[in-house]
Parts: sequence; structure tokens; C-alpha cells
Amino acid sequence: MSVKPRGNYGVDAPWVPWLWIGIAAVSAGGAIGFGLWRAGWWSAALAWYFVAATVFCLTGAALYWHASLRGKFVIWDRLLRRISLAPHARVLDLGCGRGAVAIMVASRFPDATVTGIDLWRTGDQSGNSRDATERNTALNAVDARVALDTGDMTRLPYPDGTFALVTASLSIHNVPTAEGRRAAIEEAVRVLAPSGRILIADIQRTGEYAAELRRLGLTTTGPTPLGWRTWWTGPWMATAELDATR
Ligand SMILES: C[S@@+](CC[C@H](N)C(=O)[O-])C[C@H]1O[C@@H](n2cnc3c(N)ncnc32)[C@H](O)[C@@H]1O
Repeated sequence: MSVKPRGNYGVDAPWVPWLWIGIAAVSAGGAIGFGLWRAGWWSAALAWYFVAATVFCLTGAALYWHASLRGKFVIWDRLLRRISLAPHARVLDLGCGRGAVAIMVASRFPDATVTGIDLWRTGDQSGNSRDATERNTALNAVDARVALDTGDMTRLPYPDGTFALVTASLSIHNVPTAEGRRAAIEEAVRVLAPSGRILIADIQRTGEYAAELRRLGLTTTGPTPLGWRTWWTGPWMATAELDATR
């Protein structure tokens, strides 16, 4: 059975794999050009260098599309299997985008209510919009339990201690400044209920978030790497998880 909910979830930072495809195309041109030139050993060596670069870039683009279209759903399925929620728990998904994690949470916990908050940036996820997310929640029959808010995760419009679980999938790194990312973590902790839990999966600066969570008094495990399924082109851009409880 597929772990991916029904619907279209776009591609995260969609220009990245196309950049790699572009570099692959230029490299393939180099391979063909130097291969045909036959000027000596060095043109043959350059032709093989460009063959290797082409394969490298095509592999990076394929890994990236896998991470965005399937891998992140597999890892969130694995993360959410560890969670148990009290009846009628409230859950917040920071930077929910087109609803991948919010919908997975609502589907796994049939009496939970989930709030997704986002600024709907299309540079961060293709086709990102509140309408697209509403279509996905309806397709999965969780629209009655998933509320969507337009807002900034660094200034959450919710009272202290509201949510039993706060999730953030590949979203906090999109806040451009260190102060902003710190504010996002502080806000996640502020709106967390006593004995609540925060689950974060992200590609960059997870050590920064972990230090902030610990400074705010949460017991935190991670950053723990989540494996090749969420390598965004390769192991140099891997996803790690953080699991924090109050
Ligand atoms: C890479 S997408 C990931 C979306 C979704 N969490 C997922 O895993 O499919 C990052 C999301 O964070 C949102 N975002 C970026 N900065 C934000 C901010 N300051 N407040 C709320 N959302 C933000 C973007 O609009 C985008 O939807």
C-alpha cells in the first residue's frame, strides 16, 4: 500500500533538479564534442570526464525527484508510526505546503484535529497555494479536521500550550535568517502543550534547532540522519530528524 496520500504535492524547490538536468545536458555536449574531436589522449580523457559528470548530475536529479515525490512520505510514515496521541489531540504543521504531513497525521489519527500554517511560497514548493492544499485534504476526506491558516511560523497566531504535537517537514530551513529560525523554534515550543512533542525533519541547520530546543528545556534526540530516500541530490544534502519532548 502506498504511504503517499491521494493528490498532488508538487516538488520542493522545483528549480533545483532542473538546474542539475541543465548541467547534465552541458556535460553531455562536452562528452560528445571531445569524443568526436579525437585530438589525442587528453580529448579522450575530457570526453570521459564529461560522461562521468553527466551520469553524476542525472543521478542527483533522480535522487532529488525521488526524495520529493516519494522519499519524504516514506520517512514521515516511519516517524509518525512512533507517535501516540491522546484522544482529540490538536496538531500543528509548520510550513505545511500542499499538506503532505498534515494529511498523513489526520489520516493516521482519525480523531485528531490538525492545523497547517504556511505562506504558500511557490519557490519552496511547486504549485503551492491554500487552494491546492484544500483540494488535497478533500481528496483524502480529512478536510473537516484539517484547518489551514495563512501566516508566518516565526509569529504564530495561537495561544500558549495549544498543541500536543508540532511537526515541521523541510520548512524551517526556508526561513532565511538565524534569528527567524530561532523565533520559529521558540514559537513551536511556546504553542506546545505540557508534555507535548515536536518532530522536525529538515536538510540544514538541524544542529542549530536541536541546540535551541535544548536551551528551551526540551529533551531532544537527534539530529538523526534519515537515509538515502531523502537525499536532495546526494548525501551532502541529507535530511535529519529531531524528536523533542517537554
Ligand atoms: C519545502 S516546502 C515543504 C512543505 C511541506 N512541509 C512538505 O513537506 O511537503 C517549505 C514550506 O515552508 C513554507 N514556508 C517558508 N517560510 C515560511 C514561514 N516563515 N512561515 C510559514 N511557512 C513558511 C513554504 O511556503 C513551503 O510551503
